[in-house]
Amino acid sequence: MTLPAASARPELSADATFPADFAWGVATAAYQIEGGVTEGGRGPSIWDTFSHQPGTTINGDNGDIACDHYHRWEADLDLMAGLGIPSYRLSLSWSRLQPTGSGPLNPEGVRFYRDLLQGCAARGITPYVTLYHWDLPQALQDEGGWPERRTAHRFGDYAGLVADALGDLAEHWITINEPMCAAFLGHSWGMQAPGFKDDSLAVRAAHHLLLAHGLALAEFRTRRPGTKLGITNIIGNLNPASDSVADHAATEYWDAISNRIFLDPVYRGRYADATVAAYGKYGLTATGEGAAAGDLVQPGDLAIISAPGDFAGINHYTNMLVAAGTESTPNWTHVEPAPSSFGWSNTPDALHAVLKRVAAEYTPLPLYVTENGVTFHDYVDPNGEVRDPRRIDYLRGYISAVGEAISDGVDVRGYFAWSFMDNFEWAEGYDKRFGLVYVDYGTQARIPKQSAYWYRDTIAAHNAGLYRRTAAPASATA
Ligand code: FCB
Repeated sequence: MTLPAASARPELSADATFPADFAWGVATAAYQIEGGVTEGGRGPSIWDTFSHQPGTTINGDNGDIACDHYHRWEADLDLMAGLGIPSYRLSLSWSRLQPTGSGPLNPEGVRFYRDLLQGCAARGITPYVTLYHWDLPQALQDEGGWPERRTAHRFGDYAGLVADALGDLAEHWITINEPMCAAFLGHSWGMQAPGFKDDSLAVRAAHHLLLAHGLALAEFRTRRPGTKLGITNIIGNLNPASDSVADHAATEYWDAISNRIFLDPVYRGRYADATVAAYGKYGLTATGEGAAAGDLVQPGDLAIISAPGDFAGINHYTNMLVAAGTESTPNWTHVEPAPSSFGWSNTPDALHAVLKRVAAEYTPLPLYVTENGVTFHDYVDPNGEVRDPRRIDYLRGYISAVGEAISDGVDVRGYFAWSFMDNFEWAEGYDKRFGLVYVDYGTQARIPKQSAYWYRDTIAAHNAGLYRRTAAPASATA
């Protein structure tokens, strides 16, 4: 494919700076792009089961074919390289590598991912690999899934095998993507696999996902001491809808059960009092000290969960105003009238605030924005082009916000746009298009959107010396 020449200089905020080795990337996840669900010895995952149940996804969509990346990965990597994108965050399908979630790895799965990761290297693309992006092997779900403690240990075992089989092919490894969504959207809200609506299951899943992170980190540390490890959390920016005491309390409550429930254990080694106040009824305790056998939080769990990582991954999409509700869970609303097809707001200051908060309150570790992006009703116009100026506007704002946080002293090392290409957006099916590259699902043609060229030009501008964070401030050299 011939790509158009670079356009005018992209205009990031004048205050945005980035280190010379900043990781400019795009992100995807296995079930959302691969397809090939019955090929190469892959076993079923909870997303195969869930998406095939009537009424679970828009239009009854599923990931059976998705972007057919399983067969088209070479062309996809060629396109990525052609767009000058140097870093790629991808995930491994647990049930492709270990079809039933226990026992030896599936050699065909290992071969696929070795080829893929070597394919990245061959094209000068640096992979950032996620071990778990929501696709639990169905066999483990049949034994109770994440609400069961043994699933965390299965994950630790899996991580150890992956470290041995693939750990030489990537430096950066993310253990778990968004335990918040895996636990709560999957077990409380019922809108994602495995589709339960039970808070006690969600809280148990949350703790075990965090434990799984810690166990996986320990396996990698032992087997691949040179790798850099972290967990990715989704962090929303929350503000009270008014100055009322009730709205402030609702905001703190929402923060405790959506953000802090995952940040505090990993970066402070204990669950926050506010989180325990909300979920103590389901067995959550601050540290597990003095727990009896069979209790949810066991002594030692928090030490495993909070073992030092090498970076913190942050996914950010939402900016919320929180208003006190009539029920125990507060109501919340989005800040702005909906500009995207998901109804999410375009408020880059929210990402700036999240980065500053995590750095100030939680960790001195380098941060990576491992996902950020927006969906619109993109279409191919009669000239064969996909014009998405609103996505460019969104990216310009959010990337500027990252660069401003860096100028403010926050150590952000990378930004991964969600997503490289349109893909299976979970319960929203193929209805929501997040890609920089448009996918025609009927023909599997890839058409870079205008935003892909804008991103390419932004990266090129930075490579050419624009928006550079200089190590020494001007005053130091004067
Ligand atoms: C995140 C998920 C990712 C994608 C984006 C839009 O929560 O990690 O897979 O669905 O949202």
